[in-house]
Amino acid sequence: MGNNLLKGKKGIIFGALDEKSIAWKTALKCYDEGAQLVLTNAPVALRMGEINKLADAVKAPVIGADVTNLEDLKNLIDGSMKHFGGSFDFILHSIGMSLNVRKGKHYTEMNYEWNQKTMDISAMSLHKVLRTAWDMDALSEWGSVVALTYIAAQRVFPDYNEMADAKALLESVTRMFGYYYGQKKKVRVNSISQSPTRTTAGSGVKGFDGFINYAEKMSPLGNASADDCANYIALMFSDYTRMVTMQNLFHDGGFSFTGVTGAVIEQMEK
Ligand SMILES: NC(=O)c1ccc[n+]([C@@H]2O[C@H](COP(=O)([O-])OP(=O)(O)OC[C@H]3O[C@@H](n4cnc5c(N)ncnc54)[C@H](O)[C@@H]3O)[C@@H](O)[C@H]2O)c1
Repeated sequence: MGNNLLKGKKGIIFGALDEKSIAWKTALKCYDEGAQLVLTNAPVALRMGEINKLADAVKAPVIGADVTNLEDLKNLIDGSMKHFGGSFDFILHSIGMSLNVRKGKHYTEMNYEWNQKTMDISAMSLHKVLRTAWDMDALSEWGSVVALTYIAAQRVFPDYNEMADAKALLESVTRMFGYYYGQKKKVRVNSISQSPTRTTAGSGVKGFDGFINYAEKMSPLGNASADDCANYIALMFSDYTRMVTMQNLFHDGGFSFTGVTGAVIEQMEK
């Protein structure tokens, strides 16, 4: 049972593919905290049909939208405003896709056409979502927008490939649009930098098992789970974080500020 943290709030959740998705857990959490939701994903993801289970559980309509397509986004925001009976309070951007990673292209041999598509889906899509909401005056005052990111935006994790550049751009859009939306309507925009998590997108990274185990050993609290992340996102949508904006918030069990741990030193001494 929740604590009615989001009672009376309404929002759109992008990116629930299956029950492992961070967006899936977040939808369940927000519903549990009293929010009303609209779910969305790319038409190709909707064809899997999984999202209908979530829609039943959180009593939300599903409106398909390819996040790179402005017409789709307009249709989504329009449908959501009709459903909610006006403006709404929050948006979760939980979207990532790398064509070069998917097709096994090394960073130094990047295909630039694929790279443009990656940037569009994984980073500039946040701009497109915010711009559409801005143009349609869809977000209420003190609204909150959260995008998910990874620490490869600040430090090199070689196998994260072009997604490191995409996340750096995503975090910049968060700050830039956060500035304008804050001034215009007191809407806040933040990114959450999450621990490696076993999901479809996460497992696409080469050597993911080694990577997630390393992060676990390098984090004083251990890796943050998708459920923990959902809790944090719900807090960011609540009125308890009204003055937080334009931030990249690490949600990683302490990984980002740890130089080394006893467990890693022990491993190196073997
Ligand atoms: N899993 C991790 O280790 C990890 C760590 C840090 C940050 N993140 C970030 O969390 C977010 C969610 O990923 P996840 O791990 O839950 O994986 P996921 O695979 O469950 O979610 C990714 C989602 O992006 C959607 N998507 C892809 N292309 C799209 C398009 N054109 N239009 C609309 N939606 C599209 C997919 O359908 C899917 O629902 C991503 O931004 C990811 O980079 C993940």
